[in-house]
Amino acid sequence: MALPLETEPPAAQDPELEQLEIELLLEAVYRRYGFDFRQYAQASLKRRLWRRALAEGLETITDLQARLLHDPPCMERLLLDLSINVTSMFRDPTFYVAFRQKVVPLLRTYPFTRIWCAGCSTGEEVYSLAIVLEEEGLYDRTRIYATDINEAVLATAREGVFPLAKMQQYTQNYIRGGGTRDFSRYYVTAYDGARFARTLTENVVFAQHNLAMDRAFNQFNVVACRNVMIYFDKTLQERVHTLFHESLETFGILALGHKESLSFTPFADRYEPVDEVERIYRKIR
Ligand SMILES: C[S@@+](CC[C@H](N)C(=O)[O-])C[C@H]1O[C@@H](n2cnc3c(N)ncnc32)[C@H](O)[C@@H]1O
Repeated sequence: MALPLETEPPAAQDPELEQLEIELLLEAVYRRYGFDFRQYAQASLKRRLWRRALAEGLETITDLQARLLHDPPCMERLLLDLSINVTSMFRDPTFYVAFRQKVVPLLRTYPFTRIWCAGCSTGEEVYSLAIVLEEEGLYDRTRIYATDINEAVLATAREGVFPLAKMQQYTQNYIRGGGTRDFSRYYVTAYDGARFARTLTENVVFAQHNLAMDRAFNQFNVVACRNVMIYFDKTLQERVHTLFHESLETFGILALGHKESLSFTPFADRYEPVDEVERIYRKIR
């Protein structure tokens, strides 16, 4: 029986039992499907597990665990709930101003640039970076590796069709992010969608990669990972920082965006700031 949404989840009355159920569920998901959410920040994880349980008409986290183990499509639905795919083109436009002013000049000194966009969601960030690089004359000598844990969002990213209704906001973001061209030159309208130019993904490889489990897979000049690690606990954040540090060339750029920080991590002294506000760093050791 489904609980009304306003009902207090029953297990919330016994926090210790609820915690145990959550830990067992995460262990079960990991062992059955290989997705490791055991080190995600607790508060938002708990809310999302409950939301899934209620949406499935279940009354306890243990019921949700049983459903997940026996019903792989339920796991896909949970994955969408947990992976929080909110994104937009030229999100936090001042990041792109800083990228153009402070990162692009460094990239010009390289004959070829490899960029890893980790946790790229449905790809709006990747298309935004591709547009900046194209406008700065660097796209032809760049390869972007765009990864996410979630295959469903990557499929949308490869498609490159975004809601037409969002184009007004994206155009404003683009201009605030330092764009000076007519933004509509980058897409054609198709029904209620905006199909972005295929040329923008010619140098992009979209691939599934799990930051919580997978290894480094290349050496990069830039790693961009914005609005992803905020969902991880401290231990997982450190794992991911280790991965990024291993994946970056010396003097490579780590772009975290203003919501994340390197301070208070063991890697703080391995980088120097390139832009303090946008949390863009350069690996120095
Ligand atoms: C809020 S979106 C951020 C998208 C984009 N970077 C931006 O700033 O707009 C977070 C993305 O991180 C991805 N993600 C979450 N856990 C992950 C993991 N362990 N490995 C790789 N990607 C992950 C989610 O699937 C989601 O698409």
